[in-house]
Amino acid sequence: MFGKQPSPAMARPRVSPEPPKLADARPEAEDASPQQAKDKASGSKAKAAQEKIDQANALKTRIHRKLVEKLDLTRLTGDDESLREQVREVVALLCEQENTLLNYAERQRLISEVLDETFGLGPLEVLLADTGISDILVNGPRQIYIEKGGNLQLTDTRFRDDGHLMHVIDKIVSAVGRRCDETQPIVDARLKDGSRVNAVIPPLAIDGASISIRRFGADPVTWDNYIEWGSCTQGIRDFLEACVIGHLNVLIVGGTGSGKTTLLNNLSSFIPANERIVTIEDAAELQLRQPHVVRLETRPANIEGKGKIQIRDLLINSLRMRPDRIVVGECRGPETLDMLQAMNTGHDGSLTTIHANSTRDAVQRVETMVMMSGFELPLRAIRQQFASAIHLIVQAQRLTGGPRKIVTITEVQGMEGDIITMQDIFAFEQVGISSSGKAHGKFVSTGIRPAFLERLQISGAKVDPSMFERKVLYTDPVD
Ligand SMILES: Nc1ncnc2c1ncn2[C@@H]1O[C@H](COP(=O)(O)OP(=O)(O)OP(=O)(O)O)[C@@H](O)[C@H]1O
Ligand SMILES: [Mg+2]
Repeated sequence: MFGKQPSPAMARPRVSPEPPKLADARPEAEDASPQQAKDKASGSKAKAAQEKIDQANALKTRIHRKLVEKLDLTRLTGDDESLREQVREVVALLCEQENTLLNYAERQRLISEVLDETFGLGPLEVLLADTGISDILVNGPRQIYIEKGGNLQLTDTRFRDDGHLMHVIDKIVSAVGRRCDETQPIVDARLKDGSRVNAVIPPLAIDGASISIRRFGADPVTWDNYIEWGSCTQGIRDFLEACVIGHLNVLIVGGTGSGKTTLLNNLSSFIPANERIVTIEDAAELQLRQPHVVRLETRPANIEGKGKIQIRDLLINSLRMRPDRIVVGECRGPETLDMLQAMNTGHDGSLTTIHANSTRDAVQRVETMVMMSGFELPLRAIRQQFASAIHLIVQAQRLTGGPRKIVTITEVQGMEGDIITMQDIFAFEQVGISSSGKAHGKFVSTGIRPAFLERLQISGAKVDPSMFERKVLYTDPVD
């Protein structure tokens, strides 16, 4: 790879901006075209708008500084409403003293922004307050994207500068006892509401610090949502419930942002309340409602490079915690082998996710990850482990235009020679793209009766055998 020659496109020298033509140097007013006049007008408008933003920022900083001088901020705590009210009054007073020409709405906005800065995460607060936003993606101080309703959109929210952005990152990660600096430029954290945060700072992030927030807390997707939005059918939901109650080991697969963690959370909700659950995650995202849950989270190394605790360590330890169920947020490395072994050694009914683009691709991913564990296991042995550990693979997918669905539910049947045999039980078949650009299609029963049906029935889980007859279960309405 290092020996690779740069491609011709990469090797091409960067084109420097053309030197200004003589005509450009003439006084502009003389014979400027209407287009040039328009450009000039919009340029000075943008300049004026930027000046206004700069003035507002300077005012905010001044008021914030005065607020810090006036109050002992270290004694303030999070979301105490009355405290916020008291500070609001002080900020309003400081605003008046500044004697600026702000109208009522501008003044209220300024007060809210100073409060967000003091109590919360500054400019991000406005976005966090909108529960319809599922992702917030900060690419440096001046570019913030959101995902709303399945669409990625650029917002006009901004940070003042790099320092401001770094300050907010610091606030997020220090709240969960982590830090983000030159020695630790990549960090995972979570917000108070359970949203997952990943931050990468320069020099790794070339164009300014990056924050990626995956929102969960405020409005987690429920089974009712899955059915209402056509992410699965009631019958498929009931089948999955039976599989979890019947202690099948389930592997969820899907690409980035396809809905794996959401599905894991919802599948875990089927675990009966009298069972002891241990959850293991890199950054705790799962929100289980059962009373008997032990939540474990990994830890990065400290400043001396010591004390790192990985998923694998927690998984091995969890076996000594008498779990009925082990739920691992995501297997993405050598812990995969430990997970398969746990599933094979009496921890039936465990659940996890892996990043793979199809149920069959999942086998290859697991093989690769098991090889990373350092044990020289022959491929056949790995496959045998997989085939006896995993009973069911459920695939989540984000389709064109944003809808997320459970697209395949596959039974792992066993081995034939060196090959793992699998059968799809339910599938989503895409038919087309609607006028609004969204994929649509139908859920079908493939006509395969799973071999574990008897096991489910013995365990008391209720499954209607007629649901496995080949038929269309649901067709998306088309707009
Ligand atoms: N069935 C669904 N319908 C609509 N939105 C969904 C659905 N499932 C998940 N989402 C939303 O999609 C986003 C991604 O979900 P989730 O975090 O579960 O994906 P993931 O595959 O675990 O992502 P990652 O690979 O980043 O860990 C979340 O905002 C979630 O609320
Ligand atoms: Mg996830």
